[in-house]
Amino acid sequence: MAPLLALLALLQLGPGLAALSCPQNVNIVGGNFTLSRGWAPGSVLIYSCPLGRYPSPAWRECQSNGQWQTPRASSLPTLRSSRLAKAVCKPVRCPAPTSFENGIYIPRLGSYPVGGNLSFECEHGFTLRGSPVRYCRPNGVWDGETAVCDNGASHCPNPGISVGTMRTGSSFDLGDKVSYRCSSTNLVLTGSVERECLSNGVWSGSEPICRQPYSYDFPEDVASALGTSFTHLLGATNPIQKRTENLGRKIQIQRSGHLNLYLLLDASQSVSEKDFNIFKESAFLMVDRIFSFEIKVSVAIITFASRPKIIMSVLNERSQNVMEVMDSLDSVCYKDHENATGTNTYEALNSVYLMMNNQMDRLGMETSAWQEIRHAIILLTDGKSNMGGSPKPAVDNIREILGISRNRNDYLDIYAIGVGKLDVDWKELNELGSKKDGERHAFILQDAKAVQQVFEHILDVSKLTDTICGVGNMSVNASDQERTPWQVTFKPKSKETCQGSLISDQWVLTAAHCFHDAQMEDRHLWRVIVGDPTSHHGKEFHVEEVLVAPGFNVHAKQSQGISEFYADDIALLKLSQRVKMSSHARPICLPCTVGANMALRRSPGSTCKDHETELLSQQKVPAHFVALNGNRMNINLRTGPERTSCIEAVSQNKGSFPGLTNVSEVVTDQFLCSGMEGDDSPCKGESGGAVFLERRYRFFQVGLVSWGLFDPCHGSSNKNLRRKPPHGVVPRDFHISLFRLQPWLRQHLDGVLDFLPL
Ligand SMILES: *[C@@H]1O[C@H](CO)[C@@H](O)[C@H](O)[C@H]1NC(C)=O
Ligand SMILES: *[C@@H]1O[C@H](CO)[C@@H](O)[C@H](O)[C@H]1NC(C)=O
Ligand SMILES: *[C@@H]1O[C@H](CO)[C@@H](O)[C@H](O)[C@H]1NC(C)=O
Ligand SMILES: *[C@@H]1O[C@H](CO)[C@@H](O)[C@H](O)[C@H]1NC(C)=O
Ligand SMILES: *[C@@H]1O[C@H](CO)[C@@H](O)[C@H](O)[C@H]1NC(C)=O
Ligand SMILES: *[C@@H]1O[C@H](CO)[C@@H](O)[C@H](O)[C@H]1NC(C)=O
Repeated sequence: MAPLLALLALLQLGPGLAALSCPQNVNIVGGNFTLSRGWAPGSVLIYSCPLGRYPSPAWRECQSNGQWQTPRASSLPTLRSSRLAKAVCKPVRCPAPTSFENGIYIPRLGSYPVGGNLSFECEHGFTLRGSPVRYCRPNGVWDGETAVCDNGASHCPNPGISVGTMRTGSSFDLGDKVSYRCSSTNLVLTGSVERECLSNGVWSGSEPICRQPYSYDFPEDVASALGTSFTHLLGATNPIQKRTENLGRKIQIQRSGHLNLYLLLDASQSVSEKDFNIFKESAFLMVDRIFSFEIKVSVAIITFASRPKIIMSVLNERSQNVMEVMDSLDSVCYKDHENATGTNTYEALNSVYLMMNNQMDRLGMETSAWQEIRHAIILLTDGKSNMGGSPKPAVDNIREILGISRNRNDYLDIYAIGVGKLDVDWKELNELGSKKDGERHAFILQDAKAVQQVFEHILDVSKLTDTICGVGNMSVNASDQERTPWQVTFKPKSKETCQGSLISDQWVLTAAHCFHDAQMEDRHLWRVIVGDPTSHHGKEFHVEEVLVAPGFNVHAKQSQGISEFYADDIALLKLSQRVKMSSHARPICLPCTVGANMALRRSPGSTCKDHETELLSQQKVPAHFVALNGNRMNINLRTGPERTSCIEAVSQNKGSFPGLTNVSEVVTDQFLCSGMEGDDSPCKGESGGAVFLERRYRFFQVGLVSWGLFDPCHGSSNKNLRRKPPHGVVPRDFHISLFRLQPWLRQHLDGVLDFLPL
C-alpha cells in the first residue's frame, strides 16, 4: 500500500477506533493459533496443538475493550485473573474406569497416557463381552468396546459401565432403568443419560460415553459408531436376542421415493472463517457424492448465525440439479452474517421445519409424494448456540410434521458434525443429533476429508439393487471388493488365473489371451467368482458363452521377429445366470454408453469421442487396476507425446523383439501405456482386469490389462509380494483401449448396453 493510501485508510476509521486491538502476546508453546478477524475486537483466537496434545485454553475472544477474554477453566470457577494466562499444549489423556463389576482391570491409574493399555478380566462364572484390552488413542478416546462381565441371568444383558461413567441401577429386567453420569465434572457425557430394558431384550437409547471435552473423532471411529453398534455385539454373543432393526441409522439410497438433504452451515462468530470454509468444502463433497447415485434428491443449503439464510430451498426445482446446487453453494459467504454473529440453532432448524411445512402444503399431506420423502439433516456446527433458546422444540416440530413417532423412524435422520480446529460443545452437539438404538449421530472431525469418510458410512446403499454402473464404496474402511465390486476372477486353464470386470449383470469383459491354449470344450468346468471370494458375498458362476475377438493371434507377427503380439486381446463371457446386484457385485461403467454418460453427468447428446476427451485428456491420467490380493494399484496412463516416450522402451527390449525398428508394429494404437516413474505393474494372473479411473465418485473402465515387459510376481508364490524391477529392467505395461475396440464391443453387446454415437 502506498503511504498516502495508508494514511487515508487510517483516517477513515475515525479517531479512537484505529487504536483498539487486542495485544499480540498470545503465542502457544509447541502449537499454533488462528484468528477469525485479526486482532480486532470480535475476533476469536483458536489454538491448535500436534497430535496427542491439546491446547489449554482452547480459545480466546477479543473483547470490545481491547482485552482478551479467555474461557475459565472449570476447576477454578471463581478465580479470575486479569493477567493473560499462558497458553500451553497439554498431553491428551484417556479417562479412568470408576468401577468394573465382576472382574478386575489393570493398571489402576487416575487417568491414562496416550498409548497406554487397560486390561480387563472377569471373575469365575462370568463371560467377558467387549474388548479385553483397550488402548488410549491420541484423541483421548479408548479404542474397542466397553468390557462387561456378564452371566446372562437377566432379561437384558448387563449394559456395563463404560470407562469414565458411573451407573445407577443394577437390575436388568424388563422395564428396569439405569442412568449414568460422568465420574468427573471435567468430562462430558455423549449418548443417553437414561436407558430402559425393552421387551426385545435390548436397552433403549445409545451407550453413554464420557469424553474429554477436547476429544474429537477419527473417521475410522465412525465406522464402529455407525456400524457395529452395541446391540449388534449383544446379538453376536447371545443368539437368542434378536438384533433390532436399526432403520434410520443411515441415509437410505434407493431408487423409489425421494430424498431431501438439508445442509446447515454454522457461520457464527465462534466458527472462524477458516473453519467455515471447511464446512463449505465438506458440503461440496457431500453434494457431489449424493448426486452420484442418480437418485431423486433435493438439496437445501442454509447458512446461519443469529438468523438463518436460505441459499437453496427444496421447494426450488433447482435443488434437484447438482450444478445448480454447487453454484449456490459456491456463493455461500461467511461475511453474509457479519452483522449478526450469534448462534441461533433453533431458528436454523425452524427454517427447515418451515420448508417442510411449505412442501407438505404444496404436495398435500396425505399424498404419497409427500409421505415417501425421506429427510436427512446435516448440521455442521460447533454446537454453541447462544440465542433463540433450545433447538429441541424445532426438532420436535420436525418429528411431528414427518410423523416420525408413528413408526416412520427411517424417514428422518439428524446428524450434528463439528469439523476443523473448533472448540466444540460436545453436550449440545450430542443433544442435536438423533439418538437411536445403539447409534451415534454426533461427531467431531478434523477436516473435510474426514467428513467425506463419515458421509460414506452414513449412506446405506443396500436398497440400490439395480445395475447402476461404476458405484464403489469410497470409504477407507470398506473391503477391497466393496471398493471395486465389478472385479471378478476365473481360471480358464489349470494354472493361471485371469481377471475380468462385470459390465452388466450377466456379462464379463476380459482378455483374449486368457483363452490361448485353453480347451473351449472345458468351458462347463470354468467358474467365474463374483463378489468377495473370501466371504459369503462371493458366488461362483458357470460360463454360458465365450466370445474371443477373432483378430487375436499371438503368433501373427512371429515371422517379423515379434514373438508375441497382443492386438485385439479382448473377450466377453456370458454368465449362466444374472448376478444379483449388491455392494459387493456391481458393474463398472463402460465409456461410450448411456450409463456412463449419466455417471459423468453429461448432457444426453454426448458422443463416444466426448467421453474419450473427458476421460483421457491429460497427458498423464491417474488410473488403477486391481491386484490378485484385491489391493487397488496405481498407474498413470500416458497419452500424446508422453505415450510416444512410454512405448519407446519396447525397442530397447532386444530379448523379446530382436531387430525391431518400428515400435508401433508391436504397440499398435489399440494400446494404452503405463509403467513409468514408479507406477505399479500388473502381474501375470492379473490379465484381463479392468484399467479404470474415477470421475465424480464413479468408476469408468478405459482399458483392460493385456501385456507388459516386467512381471513383478514372477517366481513368487506369495501374492502379497511384488518385486521391484531389477537394475536394467525397464517396466512397461500395455492395456487394450476400450475406445479403440468399440466396433467389436458394439457388435456383441447390442441389447445389453445402450451405446452413444461414435
Ligand atoms: C504452525 O503452522 C505452520 C504453518 O501453517 C506450520 O508450518 C507449523 O508446522 C505449525 N506448527 C505446529 C507446532 O503445529
Ligand atoms: C498395548 O497393547 C498393544 C497390543 O496388545 C501392544 O502392542 C503395546 O505395546 C501395549 N502398550 C503398552 C504401553 O503396554
Ligand atoms: C453490515 O453492516 C454494514 C454497515 O451497516 C453494511 O455496509 C453491510 O452491508 C452489512 N453486511 C451485511 C451482510 O448485511
Ligand atoms: C461402505 O462400506 C461401509 C463398511 O462396510 C458401510 O458401512 C457403508 O454403508 C458403505 N457405504 C457405501 C456408500 O457403500
Ligand atoms: C478402519 O481403517 C483403519 C486403517 O485405515 C483401521 O485402523 C481401523 O481399525 C479400521 N476401522 C474399522 C472399524 O474397521
Ligand atoms: C510403423 O508401423 C505402423 C503400423 O504398422 C505404420 O502405420 C507406420 O507407418 C510405421 N512407421 C514407420 C516410420 O514405418
